[in-house]
Amino acid sequence: MVSIKTVAVLGGSGNLGPAIVKELIAAGFTVTALTREGSTSTFPEIDGLTVKKVDYTSFDSLRDAFTGQDAVVSVVATAAIGVQNVAIDAAVAAGVKRFIPSEFGVNTRKTQGLPIGKILAGKVSVVDYLDEKAKQNEGFSWTGLSTGLFFDWGLKVGSIGVNVKDKTATIVDSGNEKFQTSNLAHIGRAVAGILKHPDETANKYLATASFNPSQNEIVGIVEELTGEKYNVTRLKSEDLWKAGEEKLARGDFRAFGDFLKVWNHADGIGHAVEGSESANELLGVPYEDLRETLKAYLTRVGAI
Ligand SMILES: NC(=O)c1ccc[n+]([C@@H]2O[C@H](COP(=O)([O-])OP(=O)(O)OC[C@H]3O[C@@H](n4cnc5c(N)ncnc54)[C@H](OP(=O)(O)O)[C@@H]3O)[C@@H](O)[C@H]2O)c1
Repeated sequence: MVSIKTVAVLGGSGNLGPAIVKELIAAGFTVTALTREGSTSTFPEIDGLTVKKVDYTSFDSLRDAFTGQDAVVSVVATAAIGVQNVAIDAAVAAGVKRFIPSEFGVNTRKTQGLPIGKILAGKVSVVDYLDEKAKQNEGFSWTGLSTGLFFDWGLKVGSIGVNVKDKTATIVDSGNEKFQTSNLAHIGRAVAGILKHPDETANKYLATASFNPSQNEIVGIVEELTGEKYNVTRLKSEDLWKAGEEKLARGDFRAFGDFLKVWNHADGIGHAVEGSESANELLGVPYEDLRETLKAYLTRVGAI
């Protein structure tokens, strides 16, 4: 039976990282946040958090930082996905038991043969590499976690398709397709859940969600809570797909935004994470209340 107590987090200073660091500490793990030499990133003031500088390009620097750590959680930036291979080699050499790669979005195991899979190829190859290393090294294992869109963060940055400031919304197809989405703290608790259940989660790619709303449901609740009518722009998934293909043909990876909308919202796409697809029960993270999340956000931004 594997037991995990000490955890090193790579990239714990970004958009998602602080929520993971916070929830790991709340769950009782001893956490060390690793940050790049020369980084000016800051970390939340959390009792018990150790911060250490490492050279991400150096196997030795990473191996030394990982020595004594039971698990490594990588939350590195999308643009830095490739740096994880050296980190994986260093983790194996340091005797780390579990590596969680920087996935936290689309279930990249399901993207094979699709244009979105070409854009996510870096993430796919990291999980393939982990699988290979786990087969070669007894005691080393990995867990991948798909979370869908970041929900509370996405409300702020616009990826959920609702703009409270302008009272506008963008809806794909009928707007009735349910999609996988997670609040940042939920993701942090799900990562802690993986490390609390190391045997059941070893060498598995799991999926979680705070909830699986439709776009219409979100806009409906926002309109009801604010008492305002939203101006809705409608997009067709086939147009988004075409626009994505055109961009990709030019090597323009902003195609990701088009394909992601199709992935989540196209009528009949079926990417909600419910029932046996969901690891929520295994990880001890219950579904959350969509209305309460929206109410908290609208209150915070002064819309209600
Ligand atoms: N599902 C969604 O809606 C969604 C949205 C955004 C991101 N994501 C995914 O979530 C994961 C984390 O994304 P994020 O937005 O939290 O990341 P981020 O804020 O862009 O970056 C996270 C951290 O990575 C480190 N970093 C930045 N550039 C680096 C480089 N060139 N080499 C090594 N490290 C670097 C930095 O830490 P230091 O400065 O401390 O070294 C940074 O704070 C990624 O896999 C991303 O694809 C998902």
